[in-house]
Amino acid sequence: MCGIVGYIGHREAYPIIIKGLQRLEYRGYDSAGIAIYDGNSIKLSKTKGKVSDLKEKIENEISTDGTLGIGHTRWATHGEPNDVNSHPHYSNSGNLVIIHNGIIENYDSLKKELIARGYTFKSDTDTEVLVNLIEEVQKSNNLKLGKAVQIALNEVVGAYAIAVFDKNKPNEIVVAKLGSPLAIGVGEDEFFIASDASPFIEFTKNAIYLEDEQMAIIRRGKDIKIRKIKSDDLVAPYIQELQLNLEQIEKGGYEHFMLKEIYEQPRAILDTFRGRLLSNEAIIKMAGIEDNMKRFLAADRIIIVACGTSWHAGLVAEYIFEDLARIPVEVEYASEFRYRNPVISEKDVVIAISQSGETADTLAAIKLARSKGAFVFGVCNVVGSSIARETDAGAYTHAGPEIGVASTKAFTTQITVLTLIALRLARAKGTISSSEFRQHLIELETIPNKVEEALQSDEAIKVIADIYKDSKNCLYLGRGFNFPVALEGALKLKEISYIHAEGYPAAEMKHGPIALIDEQMPVVVIATKTEHYEKVVSNIQEIKSRKGKIIGIVTKGDVSVRELADHVIEVPDTLESLSPLLTTIPLQLLSYHIAVMLGKNVDQPRNLAKSVTVE
Ligand code: AGP
Ligand code: GLU
Repeated sequence: MCGIVGYIGHREAYPIIIKGLQRLEYRGYDSAGIAIYDGNSIKLSKTKGKVSDLKEKIENEISTDGTLGIGHTRWATHGEPNDVNSHPHYSNSGNLVIIHNGIIENYDSLKKELIARGYTFKSDTDTEVLVNLIEEVQKSNNLKLGKAVQIALNEVVGAYAIAVFDKNKPNEIVVAKLGSPLAIGVGEDEFFIASDASPFIEFTKNAIYLEDEQMAIIRRGKDIKIRKIKSDDLVAPYIQELQLNLEQIEKGGYEHFMLKEIYEQPRAILDTFRGRLLSNEAIIKMAGIEDNMKRFLAADRIIIVACGTSWHAGLVAEYIFEDLARIPVEVEYASEFRYRNPVISEKDVVIAISQSGETADTLAAIKLARSKGAFVFGVCNVVGSSIARETDAGAYTHAGPEIGVASTKAFTTQITVLTLIALRLARAKGTISSSEFRQHLIELETIPNKVEEALQSDEAIKVIADIYKDSKNCLYLGRGFNFPVALEGALKLKEISYIHAEGYPAAEMKHGPIALIDEQMPVVVIATKTEHYEKVVSNIQEIKSRKGKIIGIVTKGDVSVRELADHVIEVPDTLESLSPLLTTIPLQLLSYHIAVMLGKNVDQPRNLAKSVTVE
């Protein structure tokens, strides 16, 4: 995720763009930059840091006159957050300048081809490859910018929302979209471009939302031509009048960032395996793993260190790694690990999981493990974060910024990355057959659509939330891969509704917790079709016989649990090892709706911080 803003018209572009970037900062904020055409040349300034840092730098560095410009606030995917990697990016000639939101999956092969043709690169980004590919197509075919962009994009695999202009043609700007959002504001003799309408809503409520695989050539004071990138067919612009206010736009029309982020999970999971999961070739491509494969294969064990929801993702990983790759895994609370004088050897591999990449306990655990010679691999959501820099190697989740304190899309994208790693190691060790490996890849590719399907139970979950919103306690039960999901569901409810909730292995009930069961105790049971299914059904019967209220999370089409439970919420069928990616969805929505009904501050719950950077 990141924020792109552009302007072409009769006003000064700079004030519109800088204010627009501030409004889009929630979409990504590790670096920012602006390029303005001042009538003679392109003035460009960019910097690591926030938009406010850019504002300070620009106003001391370049003239900001000009009525054509583009700006970007970055959420890095390729290349550390620093001045050079921030956008906009020039082409080699300096004639073209581009901003980009998304991921160019095949940037590596394109870059090699361009280098062979004499191109040089200043940054480590995929975006700089794209602008030089456009230049190469333009130059070698003597094309106008629009046609060059169209041909170049037909060679690209990945996701993009781009804006690019040519200083030799300063009366037009070219935009294109696939997978990342792009809105065009249509004013009086002026056009605005942005990731959402917040940068231009004060100037015009007339907007065109480009669709996937569409591009537009916007000509100053004239018109906008929209084309399909593949077929070149012209598309009639559909201008809609927006009714949203600023705050609604930032939240994508959702009431809270948490709900927006719950609904972003199909896209976040797709972005996280994009370019890494190649099912046609039956391969998983993760540089951080390939480069360190020997360390992983020689490991006596894998120690996972994390906190909170990330620790729950680590527990899911324990089941997946041991089941598929047959590597012993221990999952540790980082806050405990760092102080208990653990036995760590150079044969150990430590995986540190952290959304923010700034959690103090996790950072300390990493430093301890490294001081004792262990190899440490990070799974973070923030490129260039402290944990990302402290670890020997790593793999990023591409969830985009997670604003809500309650972690949702970070959890499912962490599990996605960890599943890819487990599958890659299992393939290298030969602990799963090639057909099992391929089956997992193909099934993992269906997960974004299956998460979409699971989200369709939202209204039914709201009804259940209304029934149980005044409960004082709640139990969450799961077995196997879904025991950690029970813990995560309980944490979600606790942290945003302040209702006491506990997660347990379903079979553990008879060792004490069943004493808690009565008609006041709602029990959420994850009872999807797995090898333990019959055992979970009998656990449900034990609860029912003690008058507990049962909310069953079941596989679509389930009959047995439906006959026993007070409520069932269906999720699509999938492989058992991938089921946590689906069973967590109804639990996120249940906690969200209960908290909203109780009038809680869902995005900023009391006593909590999004990143616990203190001990
Ligand atoms: C989960 O919803 C909480 N926000 C919290 O438990 C969080 O997962 C924990 O603080 C770890 O944060 P990290 O992933 O940024 O390291
Ligand atoms: N992939 C590009 C980069 O890493 C764009 C990332 C974004 O969407 O901000 O620079």
